[in-house]
Amino acid sequence: MNILVIGNGGREHAICWKLKHSKDITNLFIAPGNAGTASLGRNVAIKPTDIPALLAFARKESIDLTIVGPEAPLAEGIVDTFRAEGLRIFGPTRSAAQLETSKAFAKDFMKRHHIPTASYEVFRAGEEERLAQHLRAASYPLVLKADGLAGGKGVLIVETEKEALQNATAMLRGDAFGEAGATLVVEEFLRGIEASVFALTDGTRFVTLAPAQDHKRILDNDLGKNTGGMGAFAPTPHMPTEILADVKIRIIKPVLDGMRADGIPYTGVLYVGLMLTEDGPKVLEFNCRFGDPETQVVLPLIDYDLAVLLRDIADGTLQLSRLPLHDANAVCVVIASSGYPGSYDTGKVISGLDSIDEEKEGVLVFHAGTRHDGDRILTSGGRVLGVTALGEDRDFAASIRLAYNAVSRIRFDGAYYRTDIGRKALD
Ligand code: AMP
Ligand code: GLY
Repeated sequence: MNILVIGNGGREHAICWKLKHSKDITNLFIAPGNAGTASLGRNVAIKPTDIPALLAFARKESIDLTIVGPEAPLAEGIVDTFRAEGLRIFGPTRSAAQLETSKAFAKDFMKRHHIPTASYEVFRAGEEERLAQHLRAASYPLVLKADGLAGGKGVLIVETEKEALQNATAMLRGDAFGEAGATLVVEEFLRGIEASVFALTDGTRFVTLAPAQDHKRILDNDLGKNTGGMGAFAPTPHMPTEILADVKIRIIKPVLDGMRADGIPYTGVLYVGLMLTEDGPKVLEFNCRFGDPETQVVLPLIDYDLAVLLRDIADGTLQLSRLPLHDANAVCVVIASSGYPGSYDTGKVISGLDSIDEEKEGVLVFHAGTRHDGDRILTSGGRVLGVTALGEDRDFAASIRLAYNAVSRIRFDGAYYRTDIGRKALD
């Protein structure tokens, strides 16, 4: 198979790494890729949202399967376009991707199909009066969510009515998150432990990957600003088999059935962000793509040919009912540029990558924001590298040590990482 992977993060490097273990790969292309993907395939300088150029490239190179990493091209309908042209592609259509691209759509969908989630109300510009009343009667903390895509920044947890009113009003005016915030979801605050489950689905059948836990905040002990994710581990011990079974029965299956019943079957990967509450698992959010950095821990745990799996899903012929997984665990520590998730410098020389013997150490270094400059590798983004360590059985302590040992040997000016990734797996 000739495969095209779209995107340029740690997620895409991990996808390419796993694909390289597939039997049936002829050529691997990544648009646009990074310094890490360049060692596995050919990087092609096309933007993930330049759908006409991607389509032309897929035709020219006789691509058999296109795998979409980020949400932006999905939101713009890349799957619809490729399918209309008879090209095989892994991902949801633009309508199905609304589970991520509109939080109001996702919440209304869950309510209609009785899928457990936080209680909520939707407000649009012009409904300031009703909003004020709602905020007066609400209990706090309370969660405000911009309806549209906001790069992972569109969620605010507010402690008082005053804070809620200020922020919610700014959102409705379009001052806080632009158009994305002009429709607002106000949601009950849930307490519990978070976990992410990825379901790979052809619209009807699905398999799940190892449940993972992300570390969204920038500072240790889950303090500071929200980020795209500073580290992850899997399988999370907080989601034993019986809870995962419950998530499949009460959440994933009803979502897929509901989407089919609504005439917009969901295909590709459904990212289910969950809060494990005292009343059982509840949906925090859906994403229509693989999570990052979670992908860097869940893909190495798959004991199956990824190219075959994603091809079958794209063809609607998934036969597996359970995906074989290695009896192992994985911990990923993200190394970021100081300043991230705010502004940061790029172009810093990365050293120490040669000191890591991936095979021997059981460590994988996935590139996110990196680029080649001759023989050197330079930083080019906020999240720069993801160092994933693999461990036996459920020995997370060993994987955490392994990951941090490798992290300590990688250097660049302003390198920053959390020091507590994986600790929650030890509780
Ligand atoms: P989201 O982008 O919807 O996943 O929200 C980002 C983060 O905000 C989540 O990972 C949670 O930590 C937090 N969050 C979102 N919704 C809620 C909620 N209803 N209750 C508590 N925390 C939430
Ligand atoms: N790590 C969270 C996400 O990919 O949305």
